[in-house]
Amino acid sequence: MLKKTLLGSLVFLLYAPLSAYDLRSNMLQLGEELAEVQRSFIASDKQGVKESITRFAKHSQVLLGDKDNFAKMLPVGKKRKAHEAEMSAQIIKHNVQIILDAIDNKHNQSGIVRREEAQRAYTYIEHACFRCHNIVRDEY
Ligand code: HEC
Repeated sequence: MLKKTLLGSLVFLLYAPLSAYDLRSNMLQLGEELAEVQRSFIASDKQGVKESITRFAKHSQVLLGDKDNFAKMLPVGKKRKAHEAEMSAQIIKHNVQIILDAIDNKHNQSGIVRREEAQRAYTYIEHACFRCHNIVRDEY
């Protein structure tokens, strides 16, 4: 019995800080990747946008796309909010596609319309980050 409890708390001690570290380090990386997208937009570097948004899209789907996986990283009291991750992943996916379509000129539009559509989609991606931070992270 004692052994079991000891083992339980050891597992807990090991697991809890690791998953918290995981979430924070993944978020910091996501922030860096999104900042790269923003820099490319500001510089009107089309190839840079394409490369950075593709990298960001992949990582954001891995981190946010599976609510069970995200729940594991959240502290105990917040696990029930994990579905917000999937919601954000969908918003991000939708807007990444708008950006990629604009770059590929899928709808045969002028340069300025495509740039504006892509830039607006970028701000909606930022909004998905803020939205979740407001609901899940920030408590004040
Ligand atoms: C599903 C909810 C959720 C979404 C979506 C989300 N985050 Fe987070 N984010 C969190 C939580 C929770 C933390 C707190 C993690 C911690 O420090 O333990 C956090 C922390 C961070 C941090 C660390 C800040 C700090 O120093 O405390 C950064 C950077 C960050 N997020 C960037 C982003 C970016 C960029 C996006 C959008 C692409 C995003 N996040 C989307 C929940 C989310």
